[in-house]
Amino acid sequence: MKTLIAGNWKMHGQQAWTVKAAGFDRLLEATDREHIEVLICPPYPFIREMFVASAARHIKIGAQNCHAIEKGAHTGEVSAEMLADCGAEYVIVGHSERRAAGERDSDVSAKASAAFRAGLTPIICVGETLEQREAGNANNVVEAQIIGSVPDSAENFVVAYEPVWAIGTGKVAEISDIKSMHAHIRGLVGDNVRILYGGSVKPGNAAAILGTENVNGALIGGASLNMADLSAIARSAPKN
Ligand code: PGA
Repeated sequence: MKTLIAGNWKMHGQQAWTVKAAGFDRLLEATDREHIEVLICPPYPFIREMFVASAARHIKIGAQNCHAIEKGAHTGEVSAEMLADCGAEYVIVGHSERRAAGERDSDVSAKASAAFRAGLTPIICVGETLEQREAGNANNVVEAQIIGSVPDSAENFVVAYEPVWAIGTGKVAEISDIKSMHAHIRGLVGDNVRILYGGSVKPGNAAAILGTENVNGALIGGASLNMADLSAIARSAPKN
């Protein structure tokens, strides 16, 4: 199982950044790459060009969201089929920033099903708020999100555990908390699903996080905007 180093650019970037991302390849030696898979999820308008620009294919391209159905009168929406047609291989679904805007587990599950239909791999995001953690409910909250957001009989998917309070705040969960939550998620999704950690992953903390049992990669927001930081995180992945 290769470690997945996934960058989520959120609503950042411009057309010129596609070149910068293509240059990412040169920052990693071949030996740094063998055991990892690198993914960048830019805003929709840059997906096609980034796919073309990373033609050597050491970087995969993904999206940050999709609509649940294939086509129709849904102004402003983008289907999973359209993303696949533009070269995307992954799609993030149920990011906490989207859940905060009203997305429910059932919406996330429908989007993950759309990803399967289009041949994309969904990265299904889960994570508790600080209030839920302090009330001792983190495990139950995440378990309910997984049960509600992972479609029945889903096989080829990725889970990203992102404690909401750690996203974009510089606060990282304790390694012991990451280890125990990832073990809990492992028990729910089985051995073949990669479980990513996300929330303020940076070059300085990546080795400890990526070296934690049942952590199979990272979902990286802020630090993925800087190719030197993203490649440093990629180099921190354990080599076994
Ligand atoms: P961050 O974002 O790395 O900036 O905390 C992570 C995410 O939202 O996926």
